[in-house]
Amino acid sequence: MTTSKGTILLTGGLGYIGSHTAITLIENGYEVVIVDNLSNSSLSTLGRIEKILSKKITFFKSSIDDKKTLDNIFTNIEIDAVIHFSAFKSVTESVQNPLEYYKNNVSNFIDFLKICDEHGMNRIIYSSSATVYSPNASSPITEDAATGPVNPYGNTKLCGEMILRDLCSEQSNWQVGILRYFNPAGAHESALIGESPRGTPNNLMPYIADVAIGKRNHLNIYGDDYPTVDGTGVRDYIHVMDLAEGHLATLEYLLHTKESVTLNLGTGTGTSVLQLVKTYENASGYKIPYHMTDRRPGDIAACYADPERAKRLLGWKAKRSIHDMCLSSWKWISQKTEYQRSESE
Ligand code: WQD
Repeated sequence: MTTSKGTILLTGGLGYIGSHTAITLIENGYEVVIVDNLSNSSLSTLGRIEKILSKKITFFKSSIDDKKTLDNIFTNIEIDAVIHFSAFKSVTESVQNPLEYYKNNVSNFIDFLKICDEHGMNRIIYSSSATVYSPNASSPITEDAATGPVNPYGNTKLCGEMILRDLCSEQSNWQVGILRYFNPAGAHESALIGESPRGTPNNLMPYIADVAIGKRNHLNIYGDDYPTVDGTGVRDYIHVMDLAEGHLATLEYLLHTKESVTLNLGTGTGTSVLQLVKTYENASGYKIPYHMTDRRPGDIAACYADPERAKRLLGWKAKRSIHDMCLSSWKWISQKTEYQRSESE
């Protein structure tokens, strides 16, 4: 029986990034406890994680402000760190329901932090986003770039960061790793877990996947008049497994130092919409029909990370390619969905 390196509580651990991180942590010698209220994830993901790992996972169906459940967890399980994934994450939805987003992403988060503090759990990794940066921040974006979200979702993410930074005063025991994700994409190599947005995907990669599998008949490309390589928007797509490994590296940094850190998790490379479409066609073997339409309000031309600080402090660097992201996305969507294209298409 090998001893574990530690037990990590993952809030929202059945979600897209959380589920892939859970696998990476366990494969690297950690135990995980997953708390998820299934508001934006599915219980079937738990079984798939267990199938990939051939191991049972401790899971609690619970919201992060459910004091009874969390008191029980912290009282009966020695938790060495928390990774906080649990949040609503749609820019579009946040504009339509800002109060829902502030309640869930900020108010409930404060309640959760109070429970952690009551139990002396002051080590947390926080899932943040490149959306906290100002649209005027020029790429490659460093962690010192100006923040200035332009939507309620980004504001809630920045609120969470500010709360955590204020907890990290000299006198406190709090130790924090803030991770600013750029554009997560792709799926686990087993094709048993991956991105599974509810309803119409807001994001590019899952929408392209739906077109490739025949669930949607074309992609709308939001603007081809940006000052970029081909006029379409440029983003920093990062493989979800690279993201998971970035969480592992951050966890080990926190466990082995007394430092707190704010890091970009990106590749440092920008990819345009048309470049991603072309790569997905090569990976899937299917044409991705598209219509050029007007720009999407709030979009910027280009956004990609300067990932140097994570490389310097953690020794972490994204290593998977855009092709890897598209191929793993295609394998995931083509095994999971009932939309099977006929061979003749
Ligand atoms: C990427 C590019 C679009 C869809 C968002 C959130 C961010 C983070 C990642 C949570 C842009 C274009 C898109 C489509 C298109 N999520 N596009 N047709 O906007 O960079 O970031 O997701 O943390 O917070 O803001 O990602 O995938 O929506 O768009 O042409 O159907 O694809 O214009 O250039 P974005 P995205």
